[in-house]
Amino acid sequence: MSSEHESPIKTPKQLAAVVVAAFLVPIFTIVLLVKYVNTAGKTGAGSVAMTEEATAQRLKPVARVEFKDVNAPKVLKSGQEIYDGVCAGCHNVGAAGAPKNGDKGAWSARLTQGYDKLVEHAIKGIRGMPARGGNPDLDDIEVARAVAVMGNSVGAGFKEPAAPAPKAEATAK
Ligand code: HEC
Repeated sequence: MSSEHESPIKTPKQLAAVVVAAFLVPIFTIVLLVKYVNTAGKTGAGSVAMTEEATAQRLKPVARVEFKDVNAPKVLKSGQEIYDGVCAGCHNVGAAGAPKNGDKGAWSARLTQGYDKLVEHAIKGIRGMPARGGNPDLDDIEVARAVAVMGNSVGAGFKEPAAPAPKAEATAK
Protein backbone atom coordinates (compact mmCIF):
# COMPACT_ATOMS: atom_id res chain seq x y z
CA MET A 1 0.00 0.00 0.00
CA SER A 2 2.80 2.35 -0.72
CA SER A 3 0.72 4.28 -3.25
CA GLU A 4 -1.26 5.94 -0.38
CA HIS A 5 1.75 7.96 0.59
CA GLU A 6 2.74 8.78 -2.90
CA SER A 7 2.74 12.47 -3.79
CA PRO A 8 0.87 13.51 -6.96
CA ILE A 9 4.03 15.41 -7.84
CA LYS A 10 6.25 12.98 -9.56
CA THR A 11 8.54 14.94 -11.80
CA PRO A 12 10.63 18.10 -11.24
CA LYS A 13 8.51 19.76 -13.91
CA GLN A 14 5.33 19.19 -11.88
CA LEU A 15 7.06 20.50 -8.78
CA ALA A 16 8.03 23.67 -10.60
CA ALA A 17 4.45 24.12 -11.80
CA VAL A 18 3.07 23.73 -8.28
CA VAL A 19 5.57 26.24 -6.88
CA VAL A 20 4.68 28.81 -9.53
CA ALA A 21 0.95 28.27 -8.97
CA ALA A 22 1.43 28.67 -5.23
CA PHE A 23 2.74 32.18 -5.92
CA LEU A 24 0.45 33.24 -8.72
CA VAL A 25 -2.95 32.14 -7.43
CA PRO A 26 -2.91 34.27 -4.22
CA ILE A 27 -1.49 37.25 -6.13
CA PHE A 28 -4.18 36.95 -8.77
CA THR A 29 -6.86 36.73 -6.05
CA ILE A 30 -5.51 39.83 -4.31
CA VAL A 31 -5.45 41.78 -7.57
CA LEU A 32 -9.08 40.84 -8.18
CA LEU A 33 -10.09 41.83 -4.66
CA VAL A 34 -8.36 45.21 -4.94
CA LYS A 35 -10.09 45.83 -8.24
CA TYR A 36 -13.43 44.93 -6.73
CA VAL A 37 -12.99 47.33 -3.82
CA ASN A 38 -11.85 50.17 -6.03
CA THR A 39 -14.64 49.91 -8.55
CA ALA A 40 -17.46 49.58 -6.02
CA GLY A 41 -18.06 53.36 -5.92
CA LYS A 42 -17.69 54.02 -9.62
CA THR A 43 -20.71 54.73 -11.77
CA GLY A 44 -21.40 54.78 -15.43
CA ALA A 45 -20.95 58.00 -17.38
CA GLY A 46 -23.94 60.32 -17.00
CA SER A 47 -25.25 58.60 -13.89
CA VAL A 48 -25.82 60.79 -10.86
CA ALA A 49 -27.39 58.12 -8.69
CA MET A 50 -24.23 57.57 -6.66
CA THR A 51 -23.10 61.16 -6.23
CA GLU A 52 -22.74 62.43 -2.68
CA GLU A 53 -25.68 64.78 -3.13
CA ALA A 54 -27.93 62.07 -4.45
CA THR A 55 -26.96 59.75 -1.63
CA ALA A 56 -27.55 62.43 0.98
CA GLN A 57 -30.92 63.12 -0.59
CA ARG A 58 -31.88 59.46 -0.24
CA LEU A 59 -30.62 59.24 3.31
CA LYS A 60 -32.28 62.36 4.62
CA PRO A 61 -35.11 61.88 7.10
CA VAL A 62 -38.59 61.60 5.71
CA ALA A 63 -40.14 64.18 7.98
CA ARG A 64 -38.72 67.41 9.29
CA VAL A 65 -40.02 69.67 11.98
CA GLU A 66 -39.84 73.36 11.36
CA PHE A 67 -40.35 75.68 14.26
CA LYS A 68 -42.15 78.87 13.51
CA ASP A 69 -42.32 81.79 15.83
CA VAL A 70 -46.04 82.53 15.66
CA ASN A 71 -45.50 85.89 17.28
CA ALA A 72 -42.96 87.05 14.76
CA PRO A 73 -44.44 89.57 12.35
CA LYS A 74 -45.04 87.97 9.01
CA VAL A 75 -42.91 89.41 6.27
CA LEU A 76 -45.28 89.88 3.38
CA LYS A 77 -44.04 88.83 -0.02
CA SER A 78 -44.36 90.89 -3.13
CA GLY A 79 -47.09 90.23 -5.64
CA GLN A 80 -44.58 88.85 -8.12
CA GLU A 81 -43.15 86.43 -5.56
CA ILE A 82 -46.61 85.18 -4.66
CA TYR A 83 -47.61 84.95 -8.30
CA ASP A 84 -44.49 82.97 -9.23
CA GLY A 85 -44.73 80.68 -6.22
CA VAL A 86 -48.45 80.03 -5.94
CA CYS A 87 -50.51 81.30 -8.86
CA ALA A 88 -48.26 80.70 -11.86
CA GLY A 89 -48.89 76.95 -11.81
CA CYS A 90 -52.40 77.54 -13.14
CA HIS A 91 -52.36 81.08 -14.46
CA ASN A 92 -49.26 80.72 -16.63
CA VAL A 93 -50.76 77.93 -18.67
CA GLY A 94 -54.47 78.49 -18.17
CA ALA A 95 -54.96 75.23 -16.26
CA ALA A 96 -58.58 74.29 -15.52
CA GLY A 97 -59.76 77.33 -17.46
CA ALA A 98 -57.77 79.83 -15.39
CA PRO A 99 -57.43 83.19 -17.15
CA LYS A 100 -53.85 83.29 -18.39
CA ASN A 101 -51.46 85.91 -17.18
CA GLY A 102 -51.04 88.50 -19.92
CA ASP A 103 -54.02 87.21 -21.93
CA LYS A 104 -56.11 90.32 -22.51
CA GLY A 105 -59.07 88.43 -23.93
CA ALA A 106 -59.29 86.13 -20.94
CA TRP A 107 -59.14 88.99 -18.46
CA SER A 108 -61.13 91.83 -20.05
CA ALA A 109 -64.55 90.67 -18.85
CA ARG A 110 -63.22 89.76 -15.42
CA LEU A 111 -61.55 93.13 -14.97
CA THR A 112 -64.89 94.89 -15.27
CA GLN A 113 -65.76 93.47 -11.85
CA GLY A 114 -63.17 95.80 -10.37
CA TYR A 115 -60.07 95.13 -8.36
CA ASP A 116 -61.84 94.61 -5.02
CA LYS A 117 -64.18 91.96 -6.42
CA LEU A 118 -61.32 90.13 -8.09
CA VAL A 119 -59.36 90.18 -4.84
CA GLU A 120 -62.40 88.88 -2.98
CA HIS A 121 -62.77 86.02 -5.47
CA ALA A 122 -59.08 85.23 -5.23
CA ILE A 123 -59.26 85.12 -1.43
CA LYS A 124 -62.51 83.15 -1.17
CA GLY A 125 -62.15 81.16 -4.34
CA ILE A 126 -64.55 81.02 -7.25
CA ARG A 127 -65.46 77.93 -9.33
CA GLY A 128 -62.14 76.35 -10.41
CA MET A 129 -60.18 79.00 -8.58
CA PRO A 130 -59.20 77.65 -5.12
CA ALA A 131 -59.34 80.04 -2.15
CA ARG A 132 -56.00 81.86 -1.88
CA GLY A 133 -54.74 79.83 -4.82
CA GLY A 134 -54.81 76.78 -2.54
CA ASN A 135 -52.34 78.20 -0.05
CA PRO A 136 -54.17 79.07 3.19
CA ASP A 137 -50.98 80.63 4.61
CA LEU A 138 -51.23 83.58 2.26
CA ASP A 139 -52.15 86.87 3.78
CA ASP A 140 -55.07 88.79 2.22
CA ILE A 141 -52.60 91.46 1.20
CA GLU A 142 -50.34 88.94 -0.51
CA VAL A 143 -53.27 87.59 -2.50
CA ALA A 144 -54.33 91.13 -3.40
CA ARG A 145 -50.80 91.91 -4.57
CA ALA A 146 -50.73 88.83 -6.78
CA VAL A 147 -54.09 89.86 -8.26
CA ALA A 148 -52.58 93.26 -9.03
CA VAL A 149 -49.63 91.59 -10.76
CA MET A 150 -51.99 89.55 -12.93
CA GLY A 151 -54.26 92.48 -13.65
CA ASN A 152 -51.29 94.61 -14.59
CA SER A 153 -50.06 91.92 -16.97
CA VAL A 154 -52.99 92.99 -19.14
CA GLY A 155 -52.63 96.67 -18.38
CA ALA A 156 -55.25 97.04 -15.66
CA GLY A 157 -53.13 99.57 -13.79
CA PHE A 158 -53.83 98.10 -10.35
CA LYS A 159 -51.75 99.24 -7.42
CA GLU A 160 -50.23 96.57 -5.19
CA PRO A 161 -51.47 97.25 -1.66
CA ALA A 162 -48.81 98.18 0.86
CA ALA A 163 -48.33 96.35 4.12
CA PRO A 164 -50.88 97.34 6.75
CA ALA A 165 -49.66 100.60 8.15
CA PRO A 166 -49.88 101.58 11.81
CA LYS A 167 -53.27 103.14 12.59
CA ALA A 168 -52.17 106.75 12.67
CA GLU A 169 -50.74 106.48 9.18
CA ALA A 170 -53.74 104.59 7.84
CA THR A 171 -56.15 107.33 8.80
CA ALA A 172 -53.86 109.98 7.36
CA LYS A 173 -54.24 108.47 3.88
C1 HEC B 1 -55.33 75.37 -9.06
C2 HEC B 1 -55.23 76.36 -10.11
C3 HEC B 1 -55.19 77.81 -9.70
C4 HEC B 1 -54.32 78.44 -8.87
C5 HEC B 1 -53.13 77.84 -8.14
C6 HEC B 1 -54.68 79.82 -8.86
N1 HEC B 1 -55.78 80.02 -9.64
FE1 HEC B 1 -56.73 81.79 -9.92
N2 HEC B 1 -58.09 80.86 -11.13
C7 HEC B 1 -58.10 79.52 -11.43
C8 HEC B 1 -59.24 79.24 -12.29
C9 HEC B 1 -59.58 77.88 -12.85
C10 HEC B 1 -59.91 80.45 -12.47
C11 HEC B 1 -61.18 80.70 -13.28
C12 HEC B 1 -62.34 80.50 -12.35
C13 HEC B 1 -63.64 80.75 -13.08
O1 HEC B 1 -63.99 81.92 -13.24
O2 HEC B 1 -64.25 79.77 -13.47
C14 HEC B 1 -59.15 81.46 -11.73
C15 HEC B 1 -59.52 82.79 -11.67
C16 HEC B 1 -58.82 83.75 -10.97
C17 HEC B 1 -59.21 85.15 -10.88
C18 HEC B 1 -60.40 85.78 -11.56
C19 HEC B 1 -61.58 85.69 -10.64
C20 HEC B 1 -62.79 86.37 -11.24
O3 HEC B 1 -63.58 86.92 -10.46
O4 HEC B 1 -62.94 86.34 -12.46
C21 HEC B 1 -58.29 85.76 -10.10
C22 HEC B 1 -58.27 87.24 -9.71
C23 HEC B 1 -57.35 84.77 -9.68
N3 HEC B 1 -57.71 83.55 -10.23
C24 HEC B 1 -56.27 85.01 -8.87
C25 HEC B 1 -55.38 84.05 -8.43
C26 HEC B 1 -54.28 84.32 -7.55
C27 HEC B 1 -53.96 85.68 -6.99
C28 HEC B 1 -53.65 83.15 -7.36
C29 HEC B 1 -52.41 82.90 -6.49
C30 HEC B 1 -52.48 83.37 -5.14
C31 HEC B 1 -54.35 82.13 -8.11
N4 HEC B 1 -55.39 82.71 -8.76
C32 HEC B 1 -54.01 80.79 -8.15
C33 HEC B 1 -57.19 78.57 -11.02
C34 HEC B 1 -56.12 78.82 -10.16
